[in-house]
Amino acid sequence: MELQHVPHYRPHLHFAPSKNWMNDPNGMVYFAGEYHLFFQHNPYDSIWGPMHWGHAVSTNLIEWEELDIALYPDELGTVFSGSCVVDWENTSGLFTNKPGLVAIFTHHKDGQDGQPPKQSQSIAYSTDKGRTWIKYENNPILTDDTKIDFRDPKVFWNETDARWVMVVAAGQSVSFYSSPNLLDWQFESEFGEGSGSHEGVWECPDLFKMAVEPTKEEKWVLLVSIGDNPRYEKGSRTQYFTGSFDGSIFVPDHTHVKWLDHGKDNYAGVSFSDIPKQDGRRIYIGWMSNWRYANHVPTGHWRSQMTIPRELSLKNINGESLVRQQPVREFDDYVKKVTDFHKQRIEKDQAFTHDIKKPFFEAEFTVSGANPFTITLHHTDIQHTVMTFAEGVLQVDRSQSGDVSFSENFSHIQEVVTSRADKLKLRMIVDSSSLELFINDGEQALTCLLYPDNACTSISISSNDAIVHDGYLSTP
Ligand code: FRU
Repeated sequence: MELQHVPHYRPHLHFAPSKNWMNDPNGMVYFAGEYHLFFQHNPYDSIWGPMHWGHAVSTNLIEWEELDIALYPDELGTVFSGSCVVDWENTSGLFTNKPGLVAIFTHHKDGQDGQPPKQSQSIAYSTDKGRTWIKYENNPILTDDTKIDFRDPKVFWNETDARWVMVVAAGQSVSFYSSPNLLDWQFESEFGEGSGSHEGVWECPDLFKMAVEPTKEEKWVLLVSIGDNPRYEKGSRTQYFTGSFDGSIFVPDHTHVKWLDHGKDNYAGVSFSDIPKQDGRRIYIGWMSNWRYANHVPTGHWRSQMTIPRELSLKNINGESLVRQQPVREFDDYVKKVTDFHKQRIEKDQAFTHDIKKPFFEAEFTVSGANPFTITLHHTDIQHTVMTFAEGVLQVDRSQSGDVSFSENFSHIQEVVTSRADKLKLRMIVDSSSLELFINDGEQALTCLLYPDNACTSISISSNDAIVHDGYLSTP
Protein backbone atom coordinates (compact mmCIF):
# COMPACT_ATOMS: atom_id res chain seq x y z
CA MET A 1 0.00 0.00 0.00
CA GLU A 2 2.92 2.41 -0.46
CA LEU A 3 2.50 3.77 -3.92
CA GLN A 4 2.75 7.53 -4.30
CA HIS A 5 -0.37 9.59 -4.15
CA VAL A 6 -0.71 11.56 -7.38
CA PRO A 7 -1.15 15.28 -6.63
CA HIS A 8 -4.48 16.55 -7.86
CA TYR A 9 -5.06 13.21 -9.60
CA ARG A 10 -3.11 14.33 -12.66
CA PRO A 11 -3.05 11.55 -15.26
CA HIS A 12 0.14 9.94 -16.57
CA LEU A 13 -1.03 8.80 -19.97
CA HIS A 14 -4.09 10.87 -20.73
CA PHE A 15 -4.05 14.35 -22.19
CA ALA A 16 -5.02 17.07 -19.71
CA PRO A 17 -4.42 20.82 -20.06
CA SER A 18 -1.52 22.17 -18.01
CA LYS A 19 -3.97 24.48 -16.27
CA ASN A 20 -7.58 25.66 -16.38
CA TRP A 21 -10.65 24.24 -18.02
CA MET A 22 -11.04 21.87 -20.98
CA ASN A 23 -14.05 20.19 -22.61
CA ASP A 24 -14.63 18.73 -26.08
CA PRO A 25 -11.80 17.59 -28.35
CA ASN A 26 -11.88 19.82 -31.47
CA GLY A 27 -10.31 19.94 -34.89
CA MET A 28 -8.46 16.65 -34.64
CA VAL A 29 -6.40 16.26 -37.78
CA TYR A 30 -3.19 14.56 -38.90
CA PHE A 31 -0.90 16.75 -40.98
CA ALA A 32 2.82 16.80 -41.80
CA GLY A 33 3.71 14.07 -39.30
CA GLU A 34 1.74 15.53 -36.39
CA TYR A 35 -1.55 14.69 -34.75
CA HIS A 36 -3.31 17.89 -33.73
CA LEU A 37 -5.68 17.95 -30.80
CA PHE A 38 -7.51 21.22 -30.28
CA PHE A 39 -9.90 21.50 -27.37
CA GLN A 40 -12.58 23.67 -25.83
CA HIS A 41 -10.67 25.76 -23.35
CA ASN A 42 -11.26 28.55 -20.83
CA PRO A 43 -7.79 30.00 -20.21
CA TYR A 44 -8.99 32.15 -17.29
CA ASP A 45 -10.47 29.61 -14.91
CA SER A 46 -10.88 25.91 -14.15
CA ILE A 47 -14.62 26.02 -14.85
CA TRP A 48 -16.41 26.42 -18.22
CA GLY A 49 -16.35 30.02 -19.49
CA PRO A 50 -15.46 32.01 -22.62
CA MET A 51 -14.45 29.33 -25.09
CA HIS A 52 -11.14 29.35 -26.96
CA TRP A 53 -9.46 26.52 -28.88
CA GLY A 54 -6.54 25.17 -26.88
CA HIS A 55 -3.97 23.20 -28.87
CA ALA A 56 -1.67 20.22 -28.41
CA VAL A 57 0.36 18.14 -30.86
CA SER A 58 1.75 14.64 -30.78
CA THR A 59 3.72 12.39 -33.09
CA ASN A 60 2.49 9.18 -31.42
CA LEU A 61 -1.01 9.92 -30.03
CA ILE A 62 0.12 9.35 -26.44
CA GLU A 63 2.64 12.06 -25.58
CA TRP A 64 1.21 15.52 -26.20
CA GLU A 65 2.91 18.88 -26.25
CA GLU A 66 0.60 21.74 -25.36
CA LEU A 67 1.05 24.74 -27.66
CA ASP A 68 -0.27 28.30 -27.58
CA ILE A 69 -4.00 28.90 -27.81
CA ALA A 70 -5.06 28.54 -31.45
CA LEU A 71 -8.36 30.44 -31.65
CA TYR A 72 -9.54 33.39 -29.55
CA PRO A 73 -13.03 34.87 -29.28
CA ASP A 74 -13.73 37.90 -31.50
CA GLU A 75 -16.61 40.26 -32.29
CA LEU A 76 -18.69 37.35 -33.67
CA GLY A 77 -18.48 35.52 -30.36
CA THR A 78 -16.60 32.82 -28.50
CA VAL A 79 -15.21 29.75 -30.27
CA PHE A 80 -17.27 26.60 -29.78
CA SER A 81 -16.55 23.09 -31.09
CA GLY A 82 -15.70 22.17 -34.65
CA SER A 83 -13.30 20.32 -36.90
CA CYS A 84 -10.20 20.76 -39.07
CA VAL A 85 -9.37 19.50 -42.54
CA VAL A 86 -6.36 19.66 -44.81
CA ASP A 87 -7.31 21.54 -47.97
CA TRP A 88 -5.00 19.44 -50.17
CA GLU A 89 -6.16 20.90 -53.49
CA ASN A 90 -6.63 24.48 -52.30
CA THR A 91 -10.36 24.30 -53.06
CA SER A 92 -10.81 27.32 -50.77
CA GLY A 93 -8.27 29.48 -52.59
CA LEU A 94 -6.93 30.48 -49.16
CA PHE A 95 -3.49 29.00 -49.78
CA THR A 96 -0.87 29.78 -52.38
CA ASN A 97 1.68 27.09 -53.11
CA LYS A 98 1.15 24.39 -50.50
CA PRO A 99 -1.76 22.75 -48.70
CA GLY A 100 -2.82 24.11 -45.33
CA LEU A 101 -5.23 23.54 -42.47
CA VAL A 102 -8.77 24.89 -42.35
CA ALA A 103 -10.69 24.96 -39.06
CA ILE A 104 -14.49 25.04 -39.25
CA PHE A 105 -16.01 26.03 -35.92
CA THR A 106 -19.06 27.60 -34.27
CA HIS A 107 -19.10 31.23 -33.28
CA HIS A 108 -21.33 31.61 -30.21
CA LYS A 109 -22.65 35.02 -29.28
CA ASP A 110 -24.70 35.52 -26.11
CA GLY A 111 -27.99 37.35 -26.71
CA GLN A 112 -28.50 40.85 -25.30
CA ASP A 113 -31.55 41.90 -23.24
CA GLY A 114 -33.07 38.45 -22.88
CA GLN A 115 -32.58 37.55 -26.55
CA PRO A 116 -31.45 33.97 -27.30
CA PRO A 117 -27.80 33.38 -28.20
CA LYS A 118 -26.73 33.28 -31.84
CA GLN A 119 -24.67 30.38 -33.22
CA SER A 120 -23.13 30.40 -36.70
CA GLN A 121 -20.33 28.54 -38.48
CA SER A 122 -17.04 30.23 -39.31
CA ILE A 123 -13.61 29.28 -40.57
CA ALA A 124 -9.97 30.05 -39.88
CA TYR A 125 -6.90 28.83 -41.73
CA SER A 126 -3.27 28.18 -41.03
CA THR A 127 -0.29 28.10 -43.38
CA ASP A 128 2.24 27.12 -40.68
CA LYS A 129 1.09 23.70 -39.49
CA GLY A 130 -1.48 25.07 -37.05
CA ARG A 131 0.88 27.36 -35.12
CA THR A 132 -0.93 30.56 -36.10
CA TRP A 133 -4.41 31.08 -37.49
CA ILE A 134 -6.11 33.68 -39.63
CA LYS A 135 -9.87 34.09 -39.34
CA TYR A 136 -11.58 34.24 -42.74
CA GLU A 137 -12.60 37.83 -43.54
CA ASN A 138 -16.17 36.96 -44.56
CA ASN A 139 -17.13 34.98 -41.47
CA PRO A 140 -19.60 33.56 -40.67
CA ILE A 141 -19.84 31.19 -43.63
CA LEU A 142 -23.09 29.54 -42.52
CA THR A 143 -26.02 30.91 -40.55
CA ASP A 144 -29.59 29.82 -39.89
CA ASP A 145 -31.82 32.33 -38.18
CA THR A 146 -34.45 29.72 -37.35
CA LYS A 147 -32.11 27.72 -35.09
CA ILE A 148 -30.86 28.55 -31.61
CA ASP A 149 -28.76 25.41 -31.16
CA PHE A 150 -26.75 25.23 -34.37
CA ARG A 151 -23.21 24.09 -33.75
CA ASP A 152 -20.22 21.74 -33.82
CA PRO A 153 -19.58 21.38 -37.59
CA LYS A 154 -17.65 18.28 -38.64
CA VAL A 155 -16.37 18.52 -42.21
CA PHE A 156 -14.89 15.88 -44.51
CA TRP A 157 -14.05 15.49 -48.18
CA ASN A 158 -16.50 13.09 -49.83
CA GLU A 159 -14.57 11.40 -52.61
CA THR A 160 -17.64 9.99 -54.35
CA ASP A 161 -19.02 13.45 -55.13
CA ALA A 162 -15.70 15.33 -54.99
CA ARG A 163 -17.07 17.93 -52.59
CA TRP A 164 -16.99 18.78 -48.91
CA VAL A 165 -19.72 17.59 -46.56
CA MET A 166 -20.58 19.22 -43.25
CA VAL A 167 -22.64 17.57 -40.54
CA VAL A 168 -23.74 20.05 -37.89
CA ALA A 169 -25.96 19.71 -34.81
CA ALA A 170 -29.27 21.57 -34.99
CA GLY A 171 -31.51 21.23 -31.93
CA GLN A 172 -32.41 17.55 -31.64
CA SER A 173 -31.31 16.65 -35.15
CA VAL A 174 -28.28 17.01 -37.42
CA SER A 175 -28.15 18.86 -40.75
CA PHE A 176 -26.00 17.97 -43.75
CA TYR A 177 -24.53 20.61 -46.05
CA SER A 178 -22.23 20.37 -49.07
CA SER A 179 -19.64 22.72 -50.53
CA PRO A 180 -17.14 22.83 -53.39
CA ASN A 181 -14.75 25.15 -51.53
CA LEU A 182 -15.38 25.19 -47.74
CA LEU A 183 -16.73 28.75 -48.09
CA ASP A 184 -20.12 28.37 -49.79
CA TRP A 185 -22.46 25.79 -48.29
CA GLN A 186 -25.68 24.32 -49.59
CA PHE A 187 -28.27 22.60 -47.37
CA GLU A 188 -28.78 18.92 -48.24
CA SER A 189 -30.94 17.25 -45.59
CA GLU A 190 -31.77 16.82 -41.95
CA PHE A 191 -31.79 13.65 -39.84
CA GLY A 192 -32.96 12.81 -36.35
CA GLU A 193 -36.70 12.91 -35.87
CA GLY A 194 -37.99 9.56 -34.65
CA SER A 195 -34.52 8.01 -34.46
CA GLY A 196 -32.30 7.28 -31.49
CA SER A 197 -32.26 9.05 -28.16
CA HIS A 198 -33.76 12.50 -27.70
CA GLU A 199 -33.02 12.83 -24.01
CA GLY A 200 -31.16 16.08 -24.64
CA VAL A 201 -29.89 18.53 -27.23
CA TRP A 202 -27.82 16.90 -30.00
CA GLU A 203 -24.18 17.97 -30.13
CA CYS A 204 -20.81 17.16 -31.72
CA PRO A 205 -21.81 14.91 -34.63
CA ASP A 206 -19.33 12.96 -36.75
CA LEU A 207 -19.92 10.96 -39.94
CA PHE A 208 -17.55 8.45 -41.56
CA LYS A 209 -17.51 5.26 -43.58
CA MET A 210 -16.15 1.91 -42.37
CA ALA A 211 -16.06 -1.67 -43.64
CA VAL A 212 -18.24 -4.07 -41.67
CA GLU A 213 -15.99 -6.91 -40.48
CA PRO A 214 -15.75 -9.70 -41.44
CA THR A 215 -17.26 -8.65 -44.80
CA LYS A 216 -16.11 -5.87 -47.11
CA GLU A 217 -19.53 -4.23 -47.05
CA GLU A 218 -19.27 -0.54 -46.17
CA LYS A 219 -21.54 1.41 -43.90
CA TRP A 220 -21.63 4.95 -42.60
CA VAL A 221 -21.43 5.65 -38.90
CA LEU A 222 -23.00 8.79 -37.45
CA LEU A 223 -21.91 9.72 -33.92
CA VAL A 224 -24.16 12.09 -31.98
CA SER A 225 -23.55 13.30 -28.45
CA ILE A 226 -26.56 14.13 -26.28
CA GLY A 227 -26.34 16.97 -23.80
CA ASP A 228 -27.13 16.69 -20.12
CA ASN A 229 -30.79 16.81 -19.17
CA PRO A 230 -31.47 16.90 -15.42
CA ARG A 231 -34.60 14.79 -15.98
CA TYR A 232 -32.47 11.75 -16.85
CA GLU A 233 -30.04 9.93 -14.62
CA LYS A 234 -27.15 9.37 -17.01
CA GLY A 235 -26.12 12.95 -17.81
CA SER A 236 -24.40 13.61 -21.14
CA ARG A 237 -23.48 10.66 -23.36
CA THR A 238 -22.92 9.60 -26.95
CA GLN A 239 -25.05 7.49 -29.28
CA TYR A 240 -24.34 6.31 -32.80
CA PHE A 241 -26.26 5.21 -35.88
CA THR A 242 -25.14 2.91 -38.66
CA GLY A 243 -26.64 3.34 -42.12
CA SER A 244 -26.10 4.67 -45.63
CA PHE A 245 -25.17 8.13 -46.89
CA ASP A 246 -25.34 9.12 -50.55
CA GLY A 247 -23.54 12.42 -50.11
CA SER A 248 -26.80 14.14 -49.33
CA ILE A 249 -29.12 12.01 -47.19
CA PHE A 250 -28.35 9.70 -44.26
CA VAL A 251 -30.63 6.65 -43.92
CA PRO A 252 -30.18 4.68 -40.68
CA ASP A 253 -30.44 0.87 -40.45
CA HIS A 254 -32.23 1.17 -37.14
CA THR A 255 -34.23 3.53 -34.98
CA HIS A 256 -33.28 2.09 -31.57
CA VAL A 257 -30.48 3.62 -29.50
CA LYS A 258 -26.92 2.32 -29.71
CA TRP A 259 -24.62 3.79 -27.05
CA LEU A 260 -20.99 4.31 -27.87
CA ASP A 261 -19.88 3.95 -24.25
CA HIS A 262 -21.67 2.56 -21.21
CA GLY A 263 -19.75 4.58 -18.64
CA LYS A 264 -20.61 8.08 -17.54
CA ASP A 265 -17.40 9.73 -18.58
CA ASN A 266 -16.97 9.75 -22.32
CA TYR A 267 -18.61 12.65 -24.13
CA ALA A 268 -18.37 14.77 -27.29
CA GLY A 269 -15.90 12.38 -28.90
CA VAL A 270 -15.14 12.61 -32.61
CA SER A 271 -12.56 11.16 -34.98
CA PHE A 272 -9.40 12.44 -36.65
CA SER A 273 -9.46 13.83 -40.13
CA ASP A 274 -6.83 13.08 -42.81
CA ILE A 275 -5.32 9.93 -41.32
CA PRO A 276 -3.19 8.73 -44.28
CA LYS A 277 -4.83 6.07 -46.51
CA GLN A 278 -2.00 3.60 -45.93
CA ASP A 279 -2.70 3.82 -42.19
CA GLY A 280 -6.45 3.63 -42.75
CA ARG A 281 -7.52 3.76 -39.11
CA ARG A 282 -10.52 5.63 -37.72
CA ILE A 283 -9.06 7.15 -34.54
CA TYR A 284 -11.32 8.64 -31.91
CA ILE A 285 -10.85 10.67 -28.73
CA GLY A 286 -13.60 11.56 -26.25
CA TRP A 287 -13.75 14.10 -23.44
CA MET A 288 -13.51 12.00 -20.30
CA SER A 289 -16.18 13.74 -18.25
CA ASN A 290 -19.90 14.33 -17.90
CA TRP A 291 -21.69 17.69 -17.94
CA ARG A 292 -23.61 16.59 -14.83
CA TYR A 293 -20.53 17.18 -12.66
CA ALA A 294 -17.67 18.23 -14.98
CA ASN A 295 -17.33 21.67 -13.36
CA HIS A 296 -17.08 20.15 -9.87
CA VAL A 297 -14.59 17.28 -10.17
CA PRO A 298 -11.92 17.73 -7.48
CA THR A 299 -8.84 18.30 -9.64
CA GLY A 300 -8.14 21.90 -8.72
CA HIS A 301 -6.23 24.18 -11.08
CA TRP A 302 -6.74 21.99 -14.16
CA ARG A 303 -9.99 20.32 -15.09
CA SER A 304 -10.76 17.46 -17.45
CA GLN A 305 -8.78 14.93 -19.45
CA MET A 306 -9.30 13.07 -22.72
CA THR A 307 -9.79 9.33 -23.20
CA ILE A 308 -6.89 7.29 -24.54
CA PRO A 309 -7.10 7.60 -28.34
CA ARG A 310 -9.09 4.62 -29.59
CA GLU A 311 -9.25 2.80 -32.88
CA LEU A 312 -12.84 2.26 -34.00
CA SER A 313 -14.02 -0.64 -36.13
CA LEU A 314 -17.39 -1.94 -37.24
CA LYS A 315 -18.34 -5.56 -36.71
CA ASN A 316 -21.37 -7.64 -37.53
CA ILE A 317 -22.39 -9.20 -34.21
CA ASN A 318 -25.56 -11.31 -34.24
CA GLY A 319 -26.78 -9.54 -37.37
CA GLU A 320 -26.20 -6.03 -36.06
CA SER A 321 -23.39 -3.65 -37.03
CA LEU A 322 -21.69 -2.52 -33.84
CA VAL A 323 -18.88 -0.05 -33.31
CA ARG A 324 -15.97 -1.65 -31.48
CA GLN A 325 -13.15 0.27 -29.85
CA GLN A 326 -9.68 -0.51 -28.58
CA PRO A 327 -6.82 1.71 -27.40
CA VAL A 328 -4.62 2.67 -30.35
CA ARG A 329 -1.63 0.35 -30.81
CA GLU A 330 0.76 3.21 -29.94
CA PHE A 331 -0.40 2.76 -26.35
CA ASP A 332 1.36 -0.63 -26.26
CA ASP A 333 4.74 1.13 -26.41
CA TYR A 334 4.12 2.69 -23.00
CA VAL A 335 3.55 -0.52 -21.06
CA LYS A 336 5.19 -3.91 -21.03
CA LYS A 337 3.87 -7.22 -19.89
CA VAL A 338 5.09 -8.05 -16.38
CA THR A 339 2.84 -11.01 -15.55
CA ASP A 340 0.82 -13.60 -17.41
CA PHE A 341 -2.16 -15.25 -15.74
CA HIS A 342 -3.16 -18.76 -16.80
CA LYS A 343 -5.76 -21.27 -15.67
CA GLN A 344 -6.26 -19.93 -12.19
CA ARG A 345 -9.20 -21.37 -10.28
CA ILE A 346 -10.89 -19.00 -7.86
CA GLU A 347 -12.87 -20.58 -5.07
CA LYS A 348 -14.81 -19.31 -2.11
CA ASP A 349 -12.65 -17.31 0.33
CA GLN A 350 -9.63 -17.59 -1.94
CA ALA A 351 -9.47 -14.27 -3.68
CA PHE A 352 -6.71 -14.03 -6.20
CA THR A 353 -4.73 -10.85 -5.52
CA HIS A 354 -1.95 -9.22 -7.41
CA ASP A 355 0.06 -6.23 -6.21
CA ILE A 356 0.59 -3.31 -8.53
CA LYS A 357 3.79 -1.38 -8.13
CA LYS A 358 3.42 1.26 -10.78
CA PRO A 359 1.23 4.38 -10.90
CA PHE A 360 -0.71 3.22 -13.96
CA PHE A 361 -1.26 -0.07 -15.69
CA GLU A 362 -3.14 -2.12 -18.21
CA ALA A 363 -4.61 -5.54 -17.42
CA GLU A 364 -6.75 -8.06 -19.18
CA PHE A 365 -8.60 -11.07 -17.77
CA THR A 366 -10.68 -13.74 -19.47
CA VAL A 367 -12.86 -15.16 -16.72
CA SER A 368 -15.63 -17.74 -16.85
CA GLY A 369 -17.92 -19.49 -14.40
CA ALA A 370 -21.58 -19.85 -13.63
CA ASN A 371 -21.22 -17.89 -10.39
CA PRO A 372 -20.85 -14.15 -10.25
CA PHE A 373 -17.33 -12.85 -9.86
CA THR A 374 -15.87 -9.56 -8.73
CA ILE A 375 -12.75 -7.73 -9.82
CA THR A 376 -11.63 -5.09 -7.34
CA LEU A 377 -9.14 -2.27 -7.66
CA HIS A 378 -7.76 -1.54 -4.19
CA HIS A 379 -6.61 2.04 -3.74
CA THR A 380 -6.31 2.37 0.06
CA ASP A 381 -7.56 0.21 2.95
CA ILE A 382 -11.00 1.75 2.59
CA GLN A 383 -11.11 2.96 -1.01
CA HIS A 384 -11.81 0.53 -3.82
CA THR A 385 -13.52 0.32 -7.19
CA VAL A 386 -15.59 -2.80 -7.71
CA MET A 387 -16.53 -4.51 -10.98
CA THR A 388 -19.06 -7.34 -10.68
CA PHE A 389 -20.06 -9.73 -13.44
CA ALA A 390 -23.28 -11.72 -13.05
CA GLU A 391 -25.55 -13.23 -15.70
CA GLY A 392 -23.87 -11.34 -18.49
CA VAL A 393 -24.16 -7.94 -16.81
CA LEU A 394 -21.05 -6.02 -15.81
CA GLN A 395 -21.52 -3.41 -13.10
CA VAL A 396 -19.00 -0.85 -11.93
CA ASP A 397 -19.40 0.55 -8.43
CA ARG A 398 -17.22 3.58 -7.69
CA SER A 399 -19.17 4.68 -4.62
CA GLN A 400 -16.20 3.79 -2.36
CA SER A 401 -13.46 4.68 -4.83
CA GLY A 402 -12.27 7.91 -3.21
CA ASP A 403 -13.65 11.44 -3.38
CA VAL A 404 -17.25 11.18 -4.57
CA SER A 405 -18.53 14.09 -2.51
CA PHE A 406 -18.82 16.63 -5.35
CA SER A 407 -21.91 15.02 -6.93
CA GLU A 408 -24.54 12.66 -5.65
CA ASN A 409 -24.83 11.29 -9.19
CA PHE A 410 -21.16 10.24 -9.38
CA SER A 411 -21.71 7.24 -7.05
CA HIS A 412 -24.48 5.64 -9.09
CA ILE A 413 -23.76 2.16 -10.45
CA GLN A 414 -22.73 2.01 -14.11
CA GLU A 415 -23.60 -1.12 -16.02
CA VAL A 416 -23.44 -2.80 -19.37
CA VAL A 417 -25.23 -5.88 -20.69
CA THR A 418 -22.52 -7.87 -22.45
CA SER A 419 -23.01 -10.31 -25.31
CA ARG A 420 -22.26 -13.48 -23.23
CA ALA A 421 -23.46 -14.69 -19.86
CA ASP A 422 -20.80 -17.34 -19.21
CA LYS A 423 -17.58 -15.53 -19.97
CA LEU A 424 -16.03 -12.07 -19.88
CA LYS A 425 -12.89 -10.78 -21.48
CA LEU A 426 -12.10 -7.54 -19.75
CA ARG A 427 -9.28 -5.21 -20.74
CA MET A 428 -8.69 -2.21 -18.50
CA ILE A 429 -6.50 0.85 -18.45
CA VAL A 430 -6.11 2.35 -15.01
CA ASP A 431 -4.53 5.79 -14.63
CA SER A 432 -4.43 8.14 -11.61
CA SER A 433 -8.03 9.21 -11.99
CA SER A 434 -9.67 7.00 -14.58
CA LEU A 435 -10.69 3.48 -15.48
CA GLU A 436 -11.32 2.58 -19.12
CA LEU A 437 -12.86 -0.82 -19.78
CA PHE A 438 -12.86 -2.59 -23.14
CA ILE A 439 -15.23 -5.54 -23.01
CA ASN A 440 -14.95 -8.68 -25.18
CA ASP A 441 -12.36 -7.32 -27.61
CA GLY A 442 -13.83 -3.83 -27.50
CA GLU A 443 -17.41 -4.82 -28.42
CA GLN A 444 -18.37 -2.44 -25.66
CA ALA A 445 -16.59 0.22 -23.63
CA LEU A 446 -17.19 1.66 -20.18
CA THR A 447 -15.24 4.76 -19.27
CA CYS A 448 -15.24 6.27 -15.82
CA LEU A 449 -13.39 8.76 -13.67
CA LEU A 450 -12.10 7.94 -10.18
CA TYR A 451 -10.60 10.18 -7.50
CA PRO A 452 -8.84 7.84 -5.04
CA ASP A 453 -6.28 8.99 -2.45
CA ASN A 454 -3.76 6.57 -3.88
CA ALA A 455 -3.13 4.90 -7.22
CA CYS A 456 -4.33 1.31 -7.48
CA THR A 457 -2.08 -0.74 -5.17
CA SER A 458 -3.52 -4.17 -5.94
CA ILE A 459 -6.14 -5.91 -8.01
CA SER A 460 -8.11 -8.95 -6.87
CA ILE A 461 -10.64 -11.39 -8.27
CA SER A 462 -13.08 -13.19 -6.02
CA SER A 463 -15.88 -15.67 -6.61
CA ASN A 464 -17.41 -18.84 -5.25
CA ASP A 465 -16.19 -20.55 -8.35
CA ALA A 466 -14.62 -19.03 -11.45
CA ILE A 467 -11.69 -19.64 -13.73
CA VAL A 468 -9.22 -17.08 -15.00
CA HIS A 469 -8.29 -18.66 -18.30
CA ASP A 470 -5.89 -16.05 -19.45
CA GLY A 471 -4.73 -12.62 -18.65
CA TYR A 472 -1.83 -10.26 -18.25
CA LEU A 473 -0.67 -7.25 -16.38
CA SER A 474 1.34 -4.56 -18.15
CA THR A 475 3.00 -1.63 -16.46
CA PRO A 476 5.32 1.18 -17.55
C1 FRU B 1 -20.49 19.86 -26.05
C2 FRU B 1 -20.67 21.35 -26.21
C3 FRU B 1 -20.77 21.72 -27.68
C4 FRU B 1 -20.32 23.16 -27.69
C5 FRU B 1 -19.26 23.16 -26.63
C6 FRU B 1 -19.17 24.44 -25.86
O1 FRU B 1 -19.88 19.48 -24.86
O2 FRU B 1 -21.81 21.80 -25.49
O3 FRU B 1 -22.05 21.52 -28.23
O4 FRU B 1 -19.84 23.55 -28.94
O5 FRU B 1 -19.54 22.10 -25.75
O6 FRU B 1 -18.06 24.45 -25.03
